[in-house]
Amino acid sequence: MEFKIKTGELAEQKSPCLVLGVFDKRKLSGPAEAVDKASGGRLTEILKMGDLDGESGRTLMLYDVPGLAAERVLLVGCGKRKELTRTLYRQAVAAAVDLLQRTHAGEALCALPELAPDGTGTYLAVRDAITAAADRVYRYSETKEDKQAPKTPLRRLTLWVSKKQDLDEAERAARHGAAIAGGARLAKELGNLPGNVCTPSYLADKALELEGRFEKLDVEVLEESDMEGLGMGALLSVSKGSRQPAKLIVMEYKGGPSGAKPVVLVGKGLTFDAGGISIKPAADMDEMKYDMAGGASVFGAVQAACELALPINLVGVVPASENLPDGAANKPGDIVKSLSGQTIEILNTDAEGRLILCDALTYSERFDPAVVIDIATLTGACVVALGKHASGLFTKDDKLAAEILEVGEIAGDRAWRMPLWEDYQSQLDSNFADMANVGGREAGAVTAACFLARYTKNFKWAHLDIAGTAWLSGKEKGGTGRPVPLLVQMLLSRSGAKT
Ligand code: BES
Ligand code: MN
Ligand code: ZN
Repeated sequence: MEFKIKTGELAEQKSPCLVLGVFDKRKLSGPAEAVDKASGGRLTEILKMGDLDGESGRTLMLYDVPGLAAERVLLVGCGKRKELTRTLYRQAVAAAVDLLQRTHAGEALCALPELAPDGTGTYLAVRDAITAAADRVYRYSETKEDKQAPKTPLRRLTLWVSKKQDLDEAERAARHGAAIAGGARLAKELGNLPGNVCTPSYLADKALELEGRFEKLDVEVLEESDMEGLGMGALLSVSKGSRQPAKLIVMEYKGGPSGAKPVVLVGKGLTFDAGGISIKPAADMDEMKYDMAGGASVFGAVQAACELALPINLVGVVPASENLPDGAANKPGDIVKSLSGQTIEILNTDAEGRLILCDALTYSERFDPAVVIDIATLTGACVVALGKHASGLFTKDDKLAAEILEVGEIAGDRAWRMPLWEDYQSQLDSNFADMANVGGREAGAVTAACFLARYTKNFKWAHLDIAGTAWLSGKEKGGTGRPVPLLVQMLLSRSGAKT
């Protein structure tokens, strides 16, 4: 999908469809008022008929509106002006996209950014419209014929801004928005693919494909033999029970000065998590194909950084493996030695994410990172704590916490900070190894983070538990592309880009 920016008299704009907002009680929005005038009051007349009263998310398509160069006018309800939140604004854009895709329009000129809630500003209004629209247009079709696919998909969305002096800001927002949407799309698609397609090898191939697309991206894939040589006993122990070889995917983007320390993103790439010998219950186990969503978000963030040619250095590290029951699989009580030298007693083979992550985190040290952020669908406990609205954020570094919370807020992809106090560490005590891989029933999301903390002492580090935010269940089952928007916003902010 293509995004453009335009300004100028709305009534004179040629377009298959002009999208305008209507507030509660049939109040025309600023730009809609001007269009109404140009049409000789036709919009007001039609609204008087009562088919659209401005209720949030409702739509009405108009044809043959006089005085306009556009072929159609799509009115979108935006609710009460004072109650328009960012979420409702995004929903209004989504509603417009839905209706547009049921028509033959194929493209549209959208004036909704002018209505964005107070304090949003042109930049975010445009960027939000783009990411909301792209999110709506995405459809999974890799392994099924999409019978409900729109006959005429929305190919181009042009966002209209009223002031010429806002053009630069809007163009920048369009570039950033398109890159964020593209990254989120990649993350969704990888997540939605079934476990028998999206294997560790498949992810490795995707990384090599990315490398081919971007000059400044170097990809290296470590094989099991390489990992053995390094001593990644924790990661390899998870993959022992699988017939698919594990891969450690390393993507290095060098957009900054050669001496500049990189941001390192480490994403859990567990392409299917059956739990291993501590097998999971059958219900909803299919959703464990999304257990590589952290890794997928790293792919998305790396792609966005490349597309935007951000002037920073970035390393994406994705440990990829399956976790299955098998004669060769980890057994409860087994003890493995991690790359860091610390030993781990595996009391529950379903706590495998931390086992592959701890070795990937230790490996990250070699990049002399400015900061390391790991992203993982790590615990069901985090879903219980925060639900699907916020990712769990764990770090001991207050400044880093503030940074991540802020970029999440800007991106509309929020995280919420959880404790990482030493008080919880003793839950990981083991009589037979340096630590156990589980910490009991209490505070499961925290003890998982405490486990990772033992491997991240030599650098600035934060952990994002995305178990609740990475995908939706039920009728809407599908990847969300989160937390790509948060990650890309962080990269934008760190590279000094105006946002
Ligand atoms: N991938 C799961 C976490 C998960 C579960 C994410 C459900 C989303 C929904 C992870 O590998 C896991 O199995 N964690 C265990 C840890 C436990 C054994 C300490 C869990 O959360 O039950
Ligand atoms: Mn598990
Ligand atoms: Zn898992």
